Amino acid sequence: MNRPHRGTIHCIDARVIDQQAWPDRQFIIRLHAPACARSAKPGTFVHVRCNPDIPMRRPLSIMRVSASEGWIEVLYKVVGHGLIALSRAEPGELVNLLGPVGRGFRPDPARPQAVLIGGGVGIPPLVFLAATLAPLPAAVAFLGSESPFPFAATTAQLPLPGTPASASACMPQLEALGIASRLASKAGLPGSYPGYVTDLARSWLATRSAADLSAMTIYACGPTPMLRAVQQLATSFSLPTQLCMEEFMACAVGGCAGCVVPVMIDGQRQMKRVCVDGPVFDGATLYAK
Ligand SMILES: Cc1cc2nc3c(=O)[nH]c(=O)nc-3n(C[C@H](O)[C@H](O)[C@H](O)COP(=O)(O)OP(=O)(O)OC[C@H]3O[C@@H](n4cnc5c(N)ncnc54)[C@H](O)[C@@H]3O)c2cc1C
Ligand code: FES
Repeated sequence: MNRPHRGTIHCIDARVIDQQAWPDRQFIIRLHAPACARSAKPGTFVHVRCNPDIPMRRPLSIMRVSASEGWIEVLYKVVGHGLIALSRAEPGELVNLLGPVGRGFRPDPARPQAVLIGGGVGIPPLVFLAATLAPLPAAVAFLGSESPFPFAATTAQLPLPGTPASASACMPQLEALGIASRLASKAGLPGSYPGYVTDLARSWLATRSAADLSAMTIYACGPTPMLRAVQQLATSFSLPTQLCMEEFMACAVGGCAGCVVPVMIDGQRQMKRVCVDGPVFDGATLYAK
C-alpha cells in the first residue's frame, strides 16, 4: 500500500531561536527543526502544540527554511488562545511540532511563468515558493492584507507594467530574489492598491499577451473568498491554478477525516483530506464552474 507520508512527518521538540512581534497580533517565530527544514516544500505546514496544556495543535504554513542552519520560520496571526500561548514562547523554550505535513505546490515546467497571489496569513507559503522559484525571472507576486503587512514594505524598483500607479510598494524580500511584487489593501496601507488583491492582479493580467498567458500558472493562498475570486480570475484568463487551503483540521495526519473538502475529478465528486491530500489543490477541481 502506498503511504506517501510514512516516515516523512517528523515529531520534533523544536527550540525557539527567535520570535518577532508585528502589528495586529502577528508574529514570526524561528524554530530549530533540522529534519523538518530538510524535507519541507512550499505549501507544506507544521502542526504545532502551542503549549503542553493545550492538546489541540494549530496548523501553520512554513514560510522560510534554512536546511544548512536547520531552522524553519512560520508567520502567524493570533486568533484565539492557542496562538496566544505560542506568542509567549521565549527563545530557548521547546515547542513540539509535527511536520512537514501535506502536499505542497507542484510547479509545472510547461507553464514556467508563476503568478503568486497571497492574502493575509496566506502569504507565507508563497514566500517559500518564491524562494524556490528564484532566479526564475518570470515570477510576479500580488499580496493583499487588511492588517499592516508583517514586513517593512518599500517602494518597488522592479517594473510591473499594467499595475495602477497607486500600487507603488513591494515586499523587499521578493525584490531581492528578482521577483516584482505589488501590495493591495482596503485598509489604506501606504503604497498599496486600494482594493482587492485579485483586482490588482487582473489589471496586470489584462495587459499580458496571449503567448505570456499560455506560459502562466497562478499559485495562491488566502481566505476562502479570496481563493474563489482567484479561481474566477483564472477562469476568465484560461489559466491553471494551484490553491493552498487553510481549512479547519484536527489530527493533520490523515486519520480523522475532520478536514475533508469535496473536489470534482473527471466529473465525479470525491472527498479529499486537506491535511494530507492537500493543502494545495488544482483550483479547477475545488471550485468547479
Ligand atoms: C494548512 C494550514 C496552514 C495555515 N497556515 C497559517 C499560517 O501560516 N499563519 C496563520 O496565521 N494561520 C494559518 N492557518 C490558520 C491557523 O491554523 C488558525 O488561524 C489557528 O489554528 C487559530 O488558532 P488560535 O489558537 O489563534 O485560535 P482558536 O480560536 O483558539 O482556535 C480554536 C480552534 O479552531 C481551529 N481554527 C481556528 N481557526 C482556524 C482556521 N482558519 N483554520 C484551521 N483551524 C482553525 C484551531 O486549530 C483550534 O482547534 C493555517 C491553517 C491551515 C489548515
Ligand atoms: S485533520 Fe484529520 S484527516 Fe485531516
